[in-house]
Amino acid sequence: MNNINNKSYDLLIFGTKGDLARRKLFPALYNLEKNNYLKNNDNIIGIGRANWDKKKYISFIYYSLISFLNSCIDINVFNRLIKRILFINLDINNIQDFIKIKKLINCKNKIIISYFAVPFKIFKNICKGLTYINLNHENVRIIVEKPIGNSFNTSKIINKEINKYFKEKQIFYIDHYLGKETVLNLFVLRFANTLFLNIWNNNFIESIYINIYEEIGIEGRWNYFDNIGQTRDMIQNHLLQLLSIIAMSQPNNFSSKNIKNEKINVLKSLRKIDINNIKQYTIKGQYINGVVNGKIVPGYLEELGANKNSKTETFISICTYIDNLQWSGVPFYLNTGKRLNKKKSEIIIYLKKPFINIFNKYIKKIYNNKIIINLQNKESIDINIMNKVPNLESEFLLKEVNLNFDYKKSFNYDYIYDSYERLLLEVINNSQSLFVNKNEIELSWLWIDSIINSWKKSNQKLYKYHAGIEIKNY
Ligand code: BG6
Repeated sequence: MNNINNKSYDLLIFGTKGDLARRKLFPALYNLEKNNYLKNNDNIIGIGRANWDKKKYISFIYYSLISFLNSCIDINVFNRLIKRILFINLDINNIQDFIKIKKLINCKNKIIISYFAVPFKIFKNICKGLTYINLNHENVRIIVEKPIGNSFNTSKIINKEINKYFKEKQIFYIDHYLGKETVLNLFVLRFANTLFLNIWNNNFIESIYINIYEEIGIEGRWNYFDNIGQTRDMIQNHLLQLLSIIAMSQPNNFSSKNIKNEKINVLKSLRKIDINNIKQYTIKGQYINGVVNGKIVPGYLEELGANKNSKTETFISICTYIDNLQWSGVPFYLNTGKRLNKKKSEIIIYLKKPFINIFNKYIKKIYNNKIIINLQNKESIDINIMNKVPNLESEFLLKEVNLNFDYKKSFNYDYIYDSYERLLLEVINNSQSLFVNKNEIELSWLWIDSIINSWKKSNQKLYKYHAGIEIKNY
């Protein structure tokens, strides 16, 4: 995905002092610089409320890279990067302040990309401010970070508000899981291999697990996280996106429109979880102190700024069904939590066992064939199968063995592109296909709202778990 757009761009980052910018955006921009994806006149403009000058901002970026870049900083690359860096001290609530942007950027023949890496309550003011300085013309694109609201109603209001200022084709709703190499490969795996294509239904598949486990806690984001919780932070977007990709029917072709339609069909067929089945289908938890990676870490209620009575969930496990012909009767488990023993994002597909065990004389239990797709850290696909143990006896010894495909070994890569690198390039190239549309967002919220409202009504128990535990649910 080369940068095929000949126009240069200015990238405005609203929320440049925040966690997302430090953790994901600066490393992605550094890597784009390193791999020569940025053009001479491209600029990166941080926007925030701070009395910083350019020097201070550059040192902020430098220290963010030290913490979050997963390689050493090459000073030549860094020096190239900082030539494009500017900082504007701006109060988003003061519309007049937006004139500072106007004064600094030259939008003739340039594409302007505004990245909204801020809480959703602020989106409206940014849209107003940008429009005030005429930065909503057709060469302007906006990237909107999740969460888009905290419920169906709020997301609808936000979408409507943004649509007052920007056309649909200018808006890029980001879900960074859609830019991961391994997530894109799910389409290829499923639709370019008859091995998988033909078994992808309830005749052959017994159950599917989508697990996103994190070692990190809330990383100083108490105010953000406590109002949101793990269900809204992770399930509403990343896990439901993975679910819709793994369960969608085959589209006629690989066009963005057809893919989105098929994903939407999955979301529409998701079994509703409500007051009648909430206890059967969901478990939620909150971490208490424990040990992660050999370090003692505080419990959720001991985090900086914590409200000691908070009932916000940091772990959630949902069992759901897709009520259509292809998936009827197959449980899909969505599991995600913070402060677990190991960072892991994986999809595990259990196939059904053979109806008859003709080896029952030698082995009582034949294990299910299992496909394990590791989405990050150790990007790979494993398939567990039953195999004969080589021997000269007439007895058959059977054992479960593993076939492994490792991205880095097979493609001889040291480094797999980070999703933010890819998605920033997609916006530059004006391609919407790896972004979410507002129907997907709203349908996901409808499903999530019902779960959250049912918890309130049923007063569902919040389990406590020690930070650093290993989840074994299969
Ligand atoms: C973000 C959530 O969207 O995804 C974070 O807000 C979470 O809470 C992060 O830590 C996980 O992303 P990844 O790519 O590290 O699995």
